[in-house]
Amino acid sequence: MSPSPSKPAYQVIARKYRPQTFSELVGQEHVRATIGNAIAQNRIAHGYIFSGQRGTGKTTVARILARCLNCEQGPTATPCMACPACRETAAGSCVDVIEIDAASNRGINEMRELRENVRYRPARDRYKVFIVDEAHQITNEAFNALLKTLEEPPEWVVFILCTTESHKIPTTIASRCQQFSFRSVDFAELVERMRWICQQEGITAGDGALSVIAQVGEGSVRDSLSALDQAISCCGSTLDETAVRELLGLFSLDTMGQVAAALETSDSRRMLEIVQEMERNGRNLQHFCRELSRYFRNLLVVRLAGAGTRLVAASDPEQTKLHAASEKFSEEDLTRYLQIVLDLYREMQYSLQPKLHLELGLLRLIHAGRLVSIEKALSNLGSGAPPEAPRAATRASVTSNPVAHSPLRQAAPAAAPQPQPPASGSLKDRLLAYLRDGGMTLLADAVEHSEAAESAAEIKFTGPREFSLSFKDAGMKNAVLKVTGKPLRISFVGVDSSAASGAPAAPPPEQDAASRRALEHPEVRRFQELFPDAQVRNVRDLKDI
Ligand SMILES: Nc1ncnc2c1ncn2[C@@H]1O[C@H](COP(=O)(O)OP(=O)(O)O)[C@@H](O)[C@H]1O
Ligand SMILES: [Mg+2]
Ligand SMILES: [Zn+2]
Repeated sequence: MSPSPSKPAYQVIARKYRPQTFSELVGQEHVRATIGNAIAQNRIAHGYIFSGQRGTGKTTVARILARCLNCEQGPTATPCMACPACRETAAGSCVDVIEIDAASNRGINEMRELRENVRYRPARDRYKVFIVDEAHQITNEAFNALLKTLEEPPEWVVFILCTTESHKIPTTIASRCQQFSFRSVDFAELVERMRWICQQEGITAGDGALSVIAQVGEGSVRDSLSALDQAISCCGSTLDETAVRELLGLFSLDTMGQVAAALETSDSRRMLEIVQEMERNGRNLQHFCRELSRYFRNLLVVRLAGAGTRLVAASDPEQTKLHAASEKFSEEDLTRYLQIVLDLYREMQYSLQPKLHLELGLLRLIHAGRLVSIEKALSNLGSGAPPEAPRAATRASVTSNPVAHSPLRQAAPAAAPQPQPPASGSLKDRLLAYLRDGGMTLLADAVEHSEAAESAAEIKFTGPREFSLSFKDAGMKNAVLKVTGKPLRISFVGVDSSAASGAPAAPPPEQDAASRRALEHPEVRRFQELFPDAQVRNVRDLKDI
């Protein structure tokens, strides 16, 4: 709590901490190395294109390069920082380093002026360096003027075109320039940079707060530094994680974890409560949806790449949490959830009723069902099934509504009241209505692609040694019984769709083999044992559906 020493006029952190030398630069090692070598070998191009996400160091490196070229001791990759060229370039007052913002000076007149300017030798330094920011905004005419200069450049001219959209630079220009793509800065590097700057500024910030600030930047140092600026002016010299997160509009992993938990237990009511809480707290629902898509993306990546992956911008404790949550779902689940949330986000962009859309979307996640391993499903389904089912040799999965499994059912909160079967309508409609009221879903394919779907679950063979079983749960069996009065039928959908058309003749030989393979499959056998009433109706190849 020492009184802060009187400070000079406030300077935005991003400007105060603009790297002055290559060694201060975060990331971009490839740019650093290549330019360093070029200078050492005195192979200096007349045109450079620096492309990449904003706030990753393009303008910064352009100024460093200008200094490297013009330093009295140079050209050198390590400018002295003391000579007039070095000092003036740092201050932005060097007459031979001309910075042009193409966003505001994009026309032919400016370029004509520039071409005039190009013809005169530098006033004092070795090179006249033109740094063109937002270079993709230059008009075609102006690009042509620039092209003429680049075709026959005076020996003292160096152009550095900085752009976030390099594809908009005409190839005639690009082919005359040396290109460098600036990469998004790694999360870990961003965290360290923020930590270092906080130390310099006498700011106390823990890992959590630094992680939030780094996340906000999404790979842009400048964006993270702006967030840091905001955090400091709001929170003062101690940055508290929760306060910073709220200030920057980020959602905590715990908030996202609530969605995953509700999904895991198929708790629709909880989903609606989450939306309600969000709205009551005045959170932006579109923003929430965006964060949710990022969350599912992170779960998927952590599921695939393991905790600690650099592909996910999260601190170690966050990675651990993500990993734990990701293990509750299969890779296929997470892929589908991500798709659903991305669709939802797109819909919400145009929605006049984002709350309704969000509710619908979150319920859709639940209704998408979950894929659990067939062993688990079988052991859950069959009352007599051994607790530890033998490991299946195949990669099989069952689409199921997880809470409905008998062992999980007790644990499920807010179980839907047992619905009554509707009295009228087609069998299919009645069954669907009944299932819907009971919080169950029938896979769309099963309804659309199988004549037997009204009373069937389906096993689909997706490859010679792979199948999936679209069988909702034990509740489905009961539902079918209740609505139809008949026992459940199971059809195996396997190798050849011609069988689906119901040809009574003997199946063609290749289908025969496929059927045999299907029927001999140990899991299919187990399934038949569990459901003695079940019949194999047909075997179809999913590829033909
Ligand atoms: N690679 C980097 N290393 C360190 N700081 C950086 C880096 N990139 C950007 N910054 C910070 O962000 C600010 C803006 O960077 P700038 O070079 O203008 O980005 P742009 O790529 O948009 O031209 C700099 O003043 C600096 O504080
Ligand atoms: Mg810039
Ligand atoms: Zn110098």
